[in-house]
Amino acid sequence: MKNIQYEELDPYLQVALDEAMRALKNAYNPYSKFYVGACLLSMDRKRYVTGTNFENAAYSSTICAERTAVVNANTQGIRHFKSIAIIARGENFDTTEVTGPCGSCRQVLYEVSQISNCDLEIILSTTKKDKIVVTSIKELLPLGFGPSDLGIDIKKYQSMEE
Ligand code: THU
Repeated sequence: MKNIQYEELDPYLQVALDEAMRALKNAYNPYSKFYVGACLLSMDRKRYVTGTNFENAAYSSTICAERTAVVNANTQGIRHFKSIAIIARGENFDTTEVTGPCGSCRQVLYEVSQISNCDLEIILSTTKKDKIVVTSIKELLPLGFGPSDLGIDIKKYQSMEE
């Protein structure tokens, strides 16, 4: 886990953060009024897929930004990713510390890393991009539970053309 300045970030990751920032404006968040945006960068670095939180009156049915991005990408037939950028803000406040993905999102991102056959890079940023942390799913979810624990071979998905 390391802190990095926006200017020092790989330009592809700068774009991913900017896209995540754009996506969070569309959060459907009448309950928490918390805005989260996520942007996946494809393995070939050609595509960006965004997501934002979509809440529900039955609170636990809420879907986080990270998972909406993954589901959005899967629907487009894109499953191989190098990185995900995540950014958040409150209704009336900017975040002063980075917002890490919740436990359910870590589990889903772990599955993404297994399909992608790499340790998914995770970039977390405050609203104003004055604090940025670069980490990875292995670091945020050590000893993750995945397809191999079930003896399931997902090779077919690892090698699928996109
Ligand atoms: N949220 C996300 O979108 N991603 C996370 O990883 C943490 C939480 C959203 C869900 C809910 O709409 C709001 O933030 C407050 O929990």
